[in-house]
Amino acid sequence: MQHPPQVQTLTVLGVESSCDDTSAAVVRWSEGRPAEVMSNVVADQAELHARFGGVVPEIAARAHTEKLDLSVEAALTEASVSLSELDAIAVTAGPGLIGGVMAGVMFAKGLAAGTGLPLIGVNHLAGHALTPRLTDGLPFPYLVLLASGGHCQFLVVAAPDRFHRLGGTIDDAPGEAFDKTARLLALPQPGGPSVEATARDGDPRRFAFPRPLLDRPGCDLSFSGLKTALLRARDDCIRQHGGLRARDRADLCASFQAAVAEVLSEKARRAILQYIQSAPVSPAMAVAGGVAANAEIRGRLEAICNELGVRFLAPPIRLCTDNAAMIAWAGIERMRIGRIDESALSARPRWPLDSSQAAMLGSGKKGAKA
Ligand code: KG4
Ligand code: ZN
Repeated sequence: MQHPPQVQTLTVLGVESSCDDTSAAVVRWSEGRPAEVMSNVVADQAELHARFGGVVPEIAARAHTEKLDLSVEAALTEASVSLSELDAIAVTAGPGLIGGVMAGVMFAKGLAAGTGLPLIGVNHLAGHALTPRLTDGLPFPYLVLLASGGHCQFLVVAAPDRFHRLGGTIDDAPGEAFDKTARLLALPQPGGPSVEATARDGDPRRFAFPRPLLDRPGCDLSFSGLKTALLRARDDCIRQHGGLRARDRADLCASFQAAVAEVLSEKARRAILQYIQSAPVSPAMAVAGGVAANAEIRGRLEAICNELGVRFLAPPIRLCTDNAAMIAWAGIERMRIGRIDESALSARPRWPLDSSQAAMLGSGKKGAKA
């Protein structure tokens, strides 16, 4: 008697709590089919941190503890999946704010013990870096630019557990620079969207802000000097006109955004040139992280890719910013290569993806950049 061929299917619950979003998601992968995000519940804590002007780690950790079980319940309900239908639980085990990471890991350990499901500790950065495979089935090796409020690095992704860092920020992350700029100009948080909106009416050539590290070879970046330049330019405006006019604010935002976009795209060009030396069959660069939502930055990166004959990929924003679907997917990738190491599962504030290199300096308001 002939049996139909067995199609391997994996259904994984993802849990993410490394920063200020509590998220739970169910992702299903079946051999030969595109992966399916069955649910992706994100509870943000923006309101809780708003009056402090940044993420307060203790408040974040407590809020995660309160929201984790509710988020998981909502994710299972939305996906119409019961605990018994899951193949594993994947949880962010770092890098990030340690209180939040611990809350997630402890919760997931409890759920794994109660259900008997295997537990996979996932590197948060691996989640971001593997997202283009969840959304587009992108083949290895590809280049990814991770640019958010806590991270900034160029990575060549060669396998689910093999990453090579070509460069990264030596101080602030670009999202952090947008947030600080918004604060200096009394614009609402998160800074990225409000600076982008204000820049729309501005002149990007009025202020000649620095292009940090462009004069040095390599793909490392720096953003902390930009905010000092912005602060000086703002104070000059206030001195000249007795206050900050709407036009000054728009020009400051536009000039700042132009500087970030130019630095990111020029460094991306260098990263792409390094990456294509390894002669990938179908070269591709993807973006991840909240900063990828910026239309000017995305447009400039896309233009460089077109110029160099490299496919450009920008996953939908809800999968670019922090979410648990990417953690579930990274868990699936690890299961597919048989890399589940439950015993090593402990929360880590720092966890560089490319262990062959020294960790990057800097530790932004949203935790370690690793
Ligand atoms: O990836 P994400 O949600 O969280 C982490 O930081 O991990 O990224 C949030 C960051 C914030 O700093 C926010 O200001 C920035 O991404 N961001 C933007 C835009 N939208 C969000 N930056 C520039 N332009 C935007 N449109
Ligand atoms: Zn992130």
